[in-house]
Amino acid sequence: MYQYDAIDQQLVQERVAQFRDQTRRYLNNELSEQEFLPLRLQNGLYVQRYAPMLRVAIPYGMLSSAQLRTLADIGRRYDKGYGHFSTRQNLQFNWPTLESVPDILAELAEVEMHAVQTSGNCIRNTTTDQYAGVIADEIVDPRPYCELIRQWSTFHPEFAFLPRKFKIAVNATESADRAATQVHDIGLHIKKNDAGEIGFKVIVGGGLGRTPMVGVTISEFVPREDLLTYLDAIIRVYNQNGRRDNKYKARIKILVKALGIDAFRKLVDAEWEHLRGKESTVPMSEFERLQGFFTEPAYKALEEQPQSLTDKLANSAGFARWYERNTFSHKKAGYRIVTLTLKKNGQAPGDATSEQMDKAADLADKYSFGELRVSHEQNLVLADVQQDQLVELWEAAKESGFATPTLGLLTDMICCPGGDFCALANAKSIPIAKQIQDTFDDLDYLYDIGEVDLNISGCMNACGHHHVGNIGILGVDKKGEEFYQVSMGGASGHDASIGKILGPSFAQEEIGSVMKRIIDLYVDQRTEEERFIDTFRRIGIKPFKEAAYAKAN
Ligand code: HEM
Ligand code: SF4
Repeated sequence: MYQYDAIDQQLVQERVAQFRDQTRRYLNNELSEQEFLPLRLQNGLYVQRYAPMLRVAIPYGMLSSAQLRTLADIGRRYDKGYGHFSTRQNLQFNWPTLESVPDILAELAEVEMHAVQTSGNCIRNTTTDQYAGVIADEIVDPRPYCELIRQWSTFHPEFAFLPRKFKIAVNATESADRAATQVHDIGLHIKKNDAGEIGFKVIVGGGLGRTPMVGVTISEFVPREDLLTYLDAIIRVYNQNGRRDNKYKARIKILVKALGIDAFRKLVDAEWEHLRGKESTVPMSEFERLQGFFTEPAYKALEEQPQSLTDKLANSAGFARWYERNTFSHKKAGYRIVTLTLKKNGQAPGDATSEQMDKAADLADKYSFGELRVSHEQNLVLADVQQDQLVELWEAAKESGFATPTLGLLTDMICCPGGDFCALANAKSIPIAKQIQDTFDDLDYLYDIGEVDLNISGCMNACGHHHVGNIGILGVDKKGEEFYQVSMGGASGHDASIGKILGPSFAQEEIGSVMKRIIDLYVDQRTEEERFIDTFRRIGIKPFKEAAYAKAN
């Protein structure tokens, strides 16, 4: 993985010193609330319902075991013994004191981590596929490109105060988009043209929040050496023309929609004329340098599917289930990608205790070259596990609550912190997740239902991606009471779409039974090979609506 050089290290440490002084001045009343606000936001610090919330970046989801242990330790000493993995490859601490944040940042800097640009109106952490570099059908490893974007966007002087936050995600496989690129401000799809050259299809103007939109293609192929000049051109146009008068209309998606993609593209092309081929053009030597940080670990020559694995799959239904759901094929014979799920019933989706983080770090050291990934679906991934060690790993993962074999199923949901922590919430989301986990606590039933993306947000800011859930749940406030609106038909992969609202919202206690009726209708209507979303697309929303609002008899 990428290792800081002396400049990176110095930058991060200087930022800690600056923030320490800013915090000191704020606490001494030398800086007003208003003055401190942009300073803390650019360091990942929100002031929340009960305490500040600190968001730590996990660039493109890569973590070393040492970094995860530091996060565990910070959770234990400065928080309440846990952290929350978010949908954008960040980790959030919900309970640090403001006074302790400079110390936390100093400890993070020791392990090459920071919270720079994890909030505020700047370019945020660039995200990608959690299986980057290890899946067979990848065009090229996206991580060196993510690292390039990270270096370019960190402290980019022109883009520190954009009209609104700005999120970039990169995908490098044709078979799947695990980074929800089409609902990002910019989504990049790595491609190879007919001449075998690498470039990017660029999608712009996607986003969730109160005005959800799927992005549109602005360029089918930007050559890779031009990536940064093209990104500069897009963000420059946004910076100059995006609305600053109304926070709710400030995202790039609103500008792209207002102008239309053709007019927007014209502005970008005109801007690009000034930039293309100039200083920010990336020479081949720089790609090679960055690629050098993402070389393969010391894989052994192993046989694919050893006999011990075949035997265990035949003899243990529990293991076979876990293998089928929570592991994924690897480009290297004899290896497997393993997801450690953070979706155990009774635990808020995406939460990990400090003990679990330590345990995951131990598992990474023992089974996966000391590295982990964080996924957009709020799980952890060991990317390089020997197939002949899978049984041992499964046993260990079970002990730590990481082996709930439900990846991609209904209870592997995305969920924001909601009203339990977030000051912006209209309603709680974690108890809704729990109610659904309880309703669907039978593994056979869950397997029979098959793949369903269920996403829950506590308000229209949509941190829990409810718009792109096959089923989405949104907390709403009705005269001071918490209600829940259900939408259906959303998707976040290559077939991205925004869900449609089913109808009037439901009371909290109804959600479990409403989900049950929706799922029952699907089970009744599906054809043999259809997933939930396929059935929905075929039969439409009407029958689901009738089922959801049918009175229980
Ligand atoms: C508890 C503290 C949090 C606060 C105050 C907060 C605040 C917000 C706000 C205000 C927006 C809407 C921005 C806009 O549309 O311009 C937003 C969007 C979003 N947040 Fe959060 N958020 C929090 C936690 C989280 C968590 C835990 C996650 C991941 C689980 C997350 C991921 C996202 C995503 C993915 C979006 C929408 C995507 C988009 O940018 O269009 N946030 N957040
Ligand atoms: S969706 Fe709303 S309630 Fe949930 S974390 Fe985001 S801002 Fe808070």
